Amino acid sequence: MEHLISGAAGFIGSHLCERLLADGHSVLGLDNLITGSRRNLAHLANHSRFRFMEHDVTQPLELAGRFDHVWHLASLASPKEYLGHPIETLESGSTGTRNMLEIARRDGARFLVTSTSECYGDPLEHPQVETYWGNVNPVGMRSCYDESKRYAEAMTMAYHRYYGVRSNIARIFNTYGPRMALKDGRVVPAFLDQALQGQPLTIFGDGTQTRSFCYVSDMVDGLVRLASSDERMPVNLGNPAELTILEFAERIRGLMNEKLPIVFEPLPDDDPKKRRPDITKARRLLGWEPKVNLEDGLRETVKYFKALAPA
Ligand SMILES: NC(=O)c1ccc[n+]([C@@H]2O[C@H](COP(=O)([O-])OP(=O)(O)OC[C@H]3O[C@@H](n4cnc5c(N)ncnc54)[C@H](O)[C@@H]3O)[C@@H](O)[C@H]2O)c1
Repeated sequence: MEHLISGAAGFIGSHLCERLLADGHSVLGLDNLITGSRRNLAHLANHSRFRFMEHDVTQPLELAGRFDHVWHLASLASPKEYLGHPIETLESGSTGTRNMLEIARRDGARFLVTSTSECYGDPLEHPQVETYWGNVNPVGMRSCYDESKRYAEAMTMAYHRYYGVRSNIARIFNTYGPRMALKDGRVVPAFLDQALQGQPLTIFGDGTQTRSFCYVSDMVDGLVRLASSDERMPVNLGNPAELTILEFAERIRGLMNEKLPIVFEPLPDDDPKKRRPDITKARRLLGWEPKVNLEDGLRETVKYFKALAPA
């Protein structure tokens, strides 16, 4: 099958390219490299079934080939990046989603969009089930990301309902692993970066806010399963094993250096206090649940960051 993947040079996108190639498919990857890197795809550069095109998905695109599957991952994805590029973030979720949906409609292709747990905002229900509509501040600092993804979901449903596009919506919760950008401000690379440099681990707030972390191979497996399902409504994908940020910092210390100090800084605006997916739906519909435990996943991630040549 022919696959088109936007955001291919990013963290999850590069692993998805790898997985689809390993499954015997052909892949055209698109990316404008705003946060992604050619280095993430360097090992695929000579693969006979892989092509890469530098392209901004908010711009129109005429592609000669026909695609069986369109995957729309392109987005600014970390708070540091989307707060620094709020307009581009809204554009990749709105115009970018529409452009990718148009290709799927033209080709009669399947379409999958990577939405986010941020659609639930600062949730008043815990854990978050897909039927919960969320608690999003539409004009808060994070609204550029949250609302771009909510719009992307709405546009995807409109293309499904109006044009019959066979679409899937993945609501991704915190995912980590090799090829995350070390300096993107997300908690896993931030702690690992600090630990590798022997610096104190910085916790924002008192560390009682919770997160759950899904290893990237589990996430890609969930996306692939979802993409071949007949479910059109959103499906949560993430790891339900929840821990506080303070507990997470302790795990990093245990893995890397027991002596690292922990320092506390003020909590940013709109930072969600609790985040844990309810994955009952993914278990039932896709037979999916995460398999990689946090220690094993972190070990692989640390190995990657240690081997990374200075950029
Ligand atoms: N990693 C997570 O924990 C997580 C959580 C929730 C949702 N997601 C979603 O999953 C997807 C992938 O995230 P990621 O963690 O791999 O982030 P990433 O930043 O590593 O990858 C995103 C890629 O999209 C590209 N991109 C951004 N705007 C573009 C545009 N206009 N045109 C073309 N390319 C563009 C970037 O250059 C980058 O390579 C995103 O849609 C993100 O919102 C990720």
